[in-house]
Amino acid sequence: MIHAAPCRFPSGKACPPPPARRNTACVYSSASVTPRAAPPTAPVIPTARVLRVPASAPTTPAPTTAPPVSPPDGAGAVDSAATAFWDYQGLFVSQRRETSSPVSLRAVDGAVPADFPAGTYYLAGPGLFADDHGSTVHPLDGHGYLRSFNFESSGRGVKYSARYVETGAQREERDDETGTWKFTHRGPFSVLKAGKKLGNMKVMKNVANTSVLVWGGRLLCLWEGGEPYELDRKTLDTVGLFDVVDKGMKTESRNGEEMAADWLRRLGELGLDVAAALLKPLLHGVFKMPEKRLLSHYRVDARRNRLLMLACNAEDMLLPRSNFTFYEFDSNFRLLQKKDFTIPDHLMVHDWAFTEGHYVLVGNRIKLDVSGSLVAAVSGHSPMISALSVNPSRPTSPIYLLPRFSDGEDGSRRDWAVPIEAPGQLWVLHIGNAFERREESGEVEIQLQASACSYQWFNFQKMFGYNWQSGELDPSFMNPKKGRQSLLPHLVKMSIRVDGDGNCRQCSVRQVSDRWTRPADFPAINPAFSGRDNEHVYVGTTSGARRFLPHFPFDSVGKINCSDGSVATWSAGRRRFLGEPIFVPRKGSAGGEDDGYILVVEYAVWMSRCYLVILDARNVGRTEAVVARIEVPKDLNFPLGFHGFWEGRTEDSPSQECQHHPPSSSSISLPLVASRNY
Ligand SMILES: [Fe+2]
Repeated sequence: MIHAAPCRFPSGKACPPPPARRNTACVYSSASVTPRAAPPTAPVIPTARVLRVPASAPTTPAPTTAPPVSPPDGAGAVDSAATAFWDYQGLFVSQRRETSSPVSLRAVDGAVPADFPAGTYYLAGPGLFADDHGSTVHPLDGHGYLRSFNFESSGRGVKYSARYVETGAQREERDDETGTWKFTHRGPFSVLKAGKKLGNMKVMKNVANTSVLVWGGRLLCLWEGGEPYELDRKTLDTVGLFDVVDKGMKTESRNGEEMAADWLRRLGELGLDVAAALLKPLLHGVFKMPEKRLLSHYRVDARRNRLLMLACNAEDMLLPRSNFTFYEFDSNFRLLQKKDFTIPDHLMVHDWAFTEGHYVLVGNRIKLDVSGSLVAAVSGHSPMISALSVNPSRPTSPIYLLPRFSDGEDGSRRDWAVPIEAPGQLWVLHIGNAFERREESGEVEIQLQASACSYQWFNFQKMFGYNWQSGELDPSFMNPKKGRQSLLPHLVKMSIRVDGDGNCRQCSVRQVSDRWTRPADFPAINPAFSGRDNEHVYVGTTSGARRFLPHFPFDSVGKINCSDGSVATWSAGRRRFLGEPIFVPRKGSAGGEDDGYILVVEYAVWMSRCYLVILDARNVGRTEAVVARIEVPKDLNFPLGFHGFWEGRTEDSPSQECQHHPPSSSSISLPLVASRNY
């Protein structure tokens, strides 16, 4: 759809409206034309339900009469606010096409090396941002569109597939006969322009768009607030919901509006137990939220060959009490253990970590806006997420060290419900790794490598710069004025020292490297080192080369050595952005921590093309870093993905028993950001 209203950066400079910004149906495929100017009641109807591309389809774009997606002056376009705005929109262009069978890809630079292992790189993310009836959604509410790059066992061919996850909401919102879409679920970050607002209790919308995992032979697409969807690994057909969590009894729903009003009136009068008892049927029965809210971030303990997952209670979002349930599964998805922890604080956790002895949570403090936005959120006039906000009432950030195995097994008498308060208000987004070192004295040092931003910058309603009132994506929120750069996500190292009695002796937060202070996120490591002492972290970061997009989207991969602070980077080049990097061990690797490759998707927004780039992890920072750049057909160009997963083939996978790297003896003192002694 076209958004004709002019926008402005905070500087006051006007930006052009982005043609076909959110919906490519009219741009890339003559078979999928949905005119942007068509009235909602009379869309032009494509004939195919699923617009899949056969394996033999040409890789050139289909003829189009639509205006170009980007300004005409290509990669050399002037570094202006207008170019920045256009390019940013280019990351969030809908892709309605799916593949009916895998499409062979070609390397336009280099080649897949012989020692690149066979396997599949899966990338989760949204595929659709606008329907055919005038509604747009926040990127986090976009229907899940799974991308798959299959590195074949025989030879070095790469085949690409992409399919929407057929969630319950997707089946309801996409017309099977016409291929058109009409959003009926609001999604927690969005409002509907068309459709029912008042009394629309279809708030939660499991779009299975956040992360992806292969475990026990099952391919799962995960979302932050519900069960994962299982897909067939070969065809990407959706199998259905996979019940990781035993949800327990289902609850009958009453009239939604009555229950919501009743709940609002009574909430302030009731104790937490009663409120929770009231909220459960409301959230589950009315808002269709599962009683257990499985988080999209999981962990793999490579040493034990276990999958670790975490769920919260649905009512935790609304109450000053948080219930965390950790699950550990063996390689056949059999539940090995389940541990519950109730913490008396109102917390939001997106990512988390584990060590040999602990589950580690850094709680992001939140609060509920009962009097204001909650009512608007329930009424459908503002996103449900606007009922929540950051809670800056305390100057510190709580870190919970929760015993992973039986309480007190390690001799600690620590009360796990009492957090270690890290200095500063850090909103933790993602955790690269955590591990613990046990010393002869009995002291334990626990270290986390995480991306964290300031409470002063984080805003539920402005993530990605999305304006739910206009439906626009403004990059200026992600690129604040000079002087506020330090508030953006950075890679930090949190160190905690706990004595033999479980008392915290010191907690410090530092930049992981004083040589790289630019914004960074999506920390990734060699997965064999998860939960173990690691040296290298790979991040998405920025070169700072663009005047109007100095901080985000990322255009660089950083390889940061946590021991000596050294940093090496690779940048994609002009008008190209990068997603999350992941590490793939080299075939036949003896287990060296950086002996492998980095996969990262490059979004060449100026020409609406995606590439999967293979970097040699040991050559990041050198001219020979790029091993191959693999091109995605233009008519299958996809929007920004979120999180990915590498599934190695068994015959090519390196041993799980990777060499353990001892801590570097050349560690240098990094500048201390903040420290707190106990
Ligand atoms: Fe995430």
